[in-house]
Amino acid sequence: MGETTCQVNYASRVFQFTKRMSPFIPNEITNYLSEHGFFTAPASTKYHGSYEGGLFDHSFEVAQTLWELTKANGLVWERPESPLIVGMFHDLCKMDAYTVEPGQTIRNGDAELFLDTGTHYEYNKNTLLKGHGDKSVMKLASLMKLTEEEVACIRYHMGAFTDREEWSDYTRAVHTYPNVLWTHHADMIASHVKGV
Ligand SMILES: [Fe+2]
Ligand SMILES: [Fe+2]
Repeated sequence: MGETTCQVNYASRVFQFTKRMSPFIPNEITNYLSEHGFFTAPASTKYHGSYEGGLFDHSFEVAQTLWELTKANGLVWERPESPLIVGMFHDLCKMDAYTVEPGQTIRNGDAELFLDTGTHYEYNKNTLLKGHGDKSVMKLASLMKLTEEEVACIRYHMGAFTDREEWSDYTRAVHTYPNVLWTHHADMIASHVKGV
């Protein structure tokens, strides 16, 4: 029996990841990521990357973009692989953030059809951890040792797209680690310019 498109896509995503990250990421972490949905989760319920594997495609694009911004602008990091680590894992919080829900037919009375919602994603309310950048840091910190710069970049990658109370924290993070700003920039380029 031949492989399904999903299996082929999954295998090619794992291959892409391994090719780019294997010098820094041991097999045990790749296996953990694989078992916990990193290569199959979507990046959102209905916006960018709302399809199987969307999270990985977005993460890979951010890693690549941050790597290119680093080269083009002479950015200096605490360790050279940081742009790949930060880009690849900034949205690790999304690995378990969504559930796949089957299509649902909504009827009015006995027979009149309103809407077939189709298979779709919904927010998973039953996660162990909540949050976004902070959750990504928590997930990643249990897998590998991070520099403080990587922690700041992942924690504040949403830039000012956060609660107003966090704006001064974000500004302080940018002053301490200017690569926080570049991380946000790479995330925006991937999702809003390249649409990945
Ligand atoms: Fe994010
Ligand atoms: Fe992102």
